[in-house]
Amino acid sequence: MERTLAILKPDCVQRNLIGKVIDRIESAGFKIVRMKMVHLTRAMAEGFYEVHNGKPFFAELVNFMTETPCVVAVLEKNNCVEAWRKTMGATNPQNAEPGTIRRDLAENMGRNIVHGSDSTENAEREIDFFFSRSELL
Ligand code: RTP
Ligand code: MG
Repeated sequence: MERTLAILKPDCVQRNLIGKVIDRIESAGFKIVRMKMVHLTRAMAEGFYEVHNGKPFFAELVNFMTETPCVVAVLEKNNCVEAWRKTMGATNPQNAEPGTIRRDLAENMGRNIVHGSDSTENAEREIDFFFSRSELL
């Protein structure tokens, strides 16, 4: 079964929306196979989002992701990577479809509640970034 990495970002935790987002994950048919809270260090946030290093929003992104703990989760479903991106909605909540997490719950592009891997290769990399081999047994 295909897997993806989801993050319930610091704004989700700060605004007490963890339960609402988990409900949406489960209602949409994803199995939550691993889940934990993590407070990212700057080095972790910079490493996780290294593809964006050098872009104008990078510093803001790293600051945001290190504000408070977040929740990281491994989700499982058929066609999981694409299905989770669809459930999240577009990066900018203003462009996201009604009924998606970002459209319904996110404040703006910088604070957009959730993360999802953008390919199956990146999903494997991102799952390994947060979960050790023993945690995945
Ligand atoms: P994510 O990686 O967090 O799931 O989001 P995404 O794939 O939808 O978007 P991505 O292009 O990977 O960007 C990562 C995060 O950086 C912030 N961003 N700000 N101001 C901007 O132009 C801009 N572009 C991206 C967003 O918070 C986005 O989620
Ligand atoms: Mg991305």
